[in-house]
Amino acid sequence: VGPLYARTALASLRQAGFAPMEIRVPAGETTKSLRTIHTCYDQLARHRIERSSFITALGGGVVGDLGGFVAASFLRGVDVVQVPTTIVAQVDASLGGKTAVNHPHGKNLIGAFHQPRLVLTDTSALRSLPRAEIVAGLAEVVKHGVIRDEELFAFLEERIEDVVDMKITAQELDWLIARNGQIKADVVSADEREGGLRALLNCGHTIGHAIGAGA
Ligand code: GLY
Repeated sequence: VGPLYARTALASLRQAGFAPMEIRVPAGETTKSLRTIHTCYDQLARHRIERSSFITALGGGVVGDLGGFVAASFLRGVDVVQVPTTIVAQVDASLGGKTAVNHPHGKNLIGAFHQPRLVLTDTSALRSLPRAEIVAGLAEVVKHGVIRDEELFAFLEERIEDVVDMKITAQELDWLIARNGQIKADVVSADEREGGLRALLNCGHTIGHAIGAGA
């Protein structure tokens, strides 16, 4: 993500009058750790970040979860803007305020609910994704169809191969991502802290995490 978009994002923030600093973290799930959180805190402290500052999490679910938790905890909480660049992040991880890092005893064991001030989604970023990442993200899209949206499920039955191959128009892709974002937002609006309904969104996650932990 960094080589593809960091320069543009930083230039855009500068143009808008902000003074951004960049923190890069390695790609991959192992980055979602307390050790990485520490290195982020170090850099934020060195740059004298203030409570009026905000964190922009540009990347996939790992960056969103990590950046969100850094924002939730540094200086007792600063704003976070989520800029998701994968399907998983655009339809699921960036929405709803769950932030966390992993612990040897479990995935997402240490975290906080911290709603983003803004989720800025650009679906053209999805066209640079490797196929495996598209397929992984579409699992969440299928999930939304299964739990909430028959019409979406029917669309996927007909067009899933086109979506995997990214042979769909920008308008169709925008529609697909927005529809999924709306499903997630509706569920979270009704049950932010997962007292009941929101657990629906974990459909398939529990077994997925178990498989991931064993992999
Ligand atoms: N990814 C499941 C949830 O946000 O509740």
